[in-house]
Amino acid sequence: MPLVPMRILLDHAAANGYGVAALNVNNMEQIQAIMMAAQETDSPVIVQASRGARKYSNDAYLRHLMLAAVELNPSLPICMHQDHGNSAATCMSAVEQGFTSVMMDGSLGEDGKTPSTYEYNAEVTRKVVDAAHAVGVSVEGEIGALGGIEDGHGAGLSQAEAMAHLTDPDQAEQFVADTAVDALAVAIGTSHGAYKFSRKPTGDVLKMDLIEEIHRRLPNTHLVMHGSSSVPQHLQDVINAFGGAIKQTYGVPIEEIQRGIRNGVRKINVDTDNRLAITGAIRKLFAESPEKFDPRDYLKPAREAMAEVCKARMLAFGQAGNAGNIKPVTCKKMVDFYKK
Ligand code: G3H
Ligand code: 13P
Ligand code: ZN
Repeated sequence: MPLVPMRILLDHAAANGYGVAALNVNNMEQIQAIMMAAQETDSPVIVQASRGARKYSNDAYLRHLMLAAVELNPSLPICMHQDHGNSAATCMSAVEQGFTSVMMDGSLGEDGKTPSTYEYNAEVTRKVVDAAHAVGVSVEGEIGALGGIEDGHGAGLSQAEAMAHLTDPDQAEQFVADTAVDALAVAIGTSHGAYKFSRKPTGDVLKMDLIEEIHRRLPNTHLVMHGSSSVPQHLQDVINAFGGAIKQTYGVPIEEIQRGIRNGVRKINVDTDNRLAITGAIRKLFAESPEKFDPRDYLKPAREAMAEVCKARMLAFGQAGNAGNIKPVTCKKMVDFYKK
C-alpha cells in the first residue's frame, strides 16, 4: 500500500482507543528498526523526520528509504511525517518530497526558537492546513511551547520556564476552530531530550490533568504528546556502564502516556529512547569487542536495540495488532474528505 495520510491512522486509533508512536529517523537502520518492530507486532506506523534529519540524510535518500519500507511491508499502513516544521515553506517542501503528513509548529517563530504570538501561530498553521489539505496531506499544529531543544529547534526552555508555556485550554479550543488541524500537540510539562525531570514526575510537573481538560473540551481532536520518551533506567545504565556519562534523569512514565491515551492522545512522539538504545548498544559492542571495525558489527545490535524499544512502545500504546484493520486511503482520496 502507498504511504498513507496520518489522519486515517489517528481516526482509527481514536475509534479503537489506542495511541500510535511517532518515531524519529535519520538513517536506514532506524527505519529498518521501526519496520522490524511494526512487522512483528502488526502495527500501523508513523515515521517522522525533523528538519535536522532531512538535512542530515538528504530528502532523496529519505524518500527512497521510505519507498523501500513500503515495498517491503505491503501489509502495513505507513505514514511519513514532517516533525516540527518551522515554516509553511518547510512543510510544503516536505509535501513535495512525498511526506503524507506535516507538523506546522507555529508555537515558535520561524527561527524555531522564539515563542510566537497566538495570531502568528493560527495564521501560519491555517495557511499550511489549506495547502496541505488541498492535496490530502494531514497537518499537526502546536499550541503552548515545550521545553528543551531539538537540533536548533526549540526555545531551550528549562523545565521551570516550560511550566509558564503550558497549553491554555481556551486557546486550544480557539486554535482548533481557527485552523482545522488534524492533530493538536499540547504542552503539558514535557520537554525534548533526555533531561526532562529530576525525579519521577508527579502531577505538579507533568500535567496530565491538563490533557484531560483539553480532551473534555475538544473530544474530537486528536491530541499529540511531544517529548514523550520514558528515558528508561536500564538504557541509561547500559550507556554509563560502557563509558558514557548520562546524568541521572527521568522521562515520561509509560503509565502516564497510557492515561493520556485514555484521554484523547493519539500520537506519541518518541526519539530520545531510541537514541539511548542505539548508543548503549554501540558503546557495549565497542567496549566488549574493541578489535571490531566493520560498521555492521555495531549497527546490527544498535538496530536490534532500537527495534526492542519500538516494539515495547507499540505494545504499550495499543497500536499492536491494528495494522490489518486499517483500510488504506491515499492522499488523493483524502482530498474529497477535506472538501466535505
Ligand atoms: O523533534 C524531536 C526530535 O527529537 C528530533 O530531534 O531535531 O535533533 O532531529 P532533531
Ligand atoms: P523525546 O525527546 O522525548 O523523544 O521527544 C521527541 C519528540 O517530541 C519529537 O518531536
Ligand atoms: Zn517534538
